[in-house]
Amino acid sequence: MNAHTHADFTPVAPAVSLRKVIRQFGDNRVIDELDLDIAPGEFVALLGASGSGKTTLLRSLAGLDAIDGGQLLAPSARAAVFQEPRLMPWKRAWKNVTLGLRLDNAKAKAVQALTEVGLAHRLEAYPATLSGGESQRVALARSLVREPKLLLLDEPFAALDALTRIRMHRLIIDLWRAHTPAVLLVTHDVDEAILLADRIIVLENGRIAEQLQVDLLRPRDNGQAGFNAIRQRLLALLGVDNDDPQTLGRDHNPFLGYPLSAIAI
Ligand SMILES: Nc1ncnc2c1ncn2[C@@H]1O[C@H](COP(=O)(O)OP(=O)(O)OP(=O)(O)O)[C@@H](O)[C@H]1O
Ligand SMILES: [Mg+2]
Repeated sequence: MNAHTHADFTPVAPAVSLRKVIRQFGDNRVIDELDLDIAPGEFVALLGASGSGKTTLLRSLAGLDAIDGGQLLAPSARAAVFQEPRLMPWKRAWKNVTLGLRLDNAKAKAVQALTEVGLAHRLEAYPATLSGGESQRVALARSLVREPKLLLLDEPFAALDALTRIRMHRLIIDLWRAHTPAVLLVTHDVDEAILLADRIIVLENGRIAEQLQVDLLRPRDNGQAGFNAIRQRLLALLGVDNDDPQTLGRDHNPFLGYPLSAIAI
């Protein structure tokens, strides 16, 4: 037997490990004995109906809320970006990025992170003077300076117009490649999940109802072979009638979300 055999098969410890996690509000059990592992550097998208517990799960993973049962292991280096940027209006962009951190070289770190998200020219701007996309990029820069091993994204692009959203998809992929955090992205947009994620999880009744691996080559676009098959499967799982795109709101409509024929990520 080869002396290296053992080492070759040593499993990598997951970045996130949940075992029988429970979260409930009064009698309303929102997360019900959920099991989930996320590998270091893995990009996971989380889909599920409104009210299925996605934000609840994310808040526990972010350490913002305690759990009511089970075991939750997550890296202490973690950061979250929500649908709205949550910036302090009276602080300049760079100050928002390093808010709450004790760093010797705070401004240099903020400049570096803001440069990475394409906002080197907006360091001194106040949030009120930033567009929605720029504000979300500040929020992303704020998460980057924390050098997270786990990046939690709760519908961070939902409020953005379609073109800005496409630019943000590219930025997220670039940042993910450069910093290699594990990512958990909550989205209602099936195409967004397929474009970005290694694995897609569907949450239902507080548990994982289905998950599928996305083995499509990158860069991805929604016209590439195999994309549509995954989309149909997910839409069926989510209970969306495929022949009637109007059953979804515009924001949630995978057919209207991408007006361009090919989107390379
Ligand atoms: N702090 C709270 N107190 C009481 N109930 C809560 C609280 N937070 C969430 N809930 C309930 O938990 C359930 C799941 O809410 P959650 O926000 O996690 O859903 P979601 O999947 O993120 O939905 P959406 O897609 O609309 O954002 C809902 O029934 C909600 O009313
Ligand atoms: Mg939510």
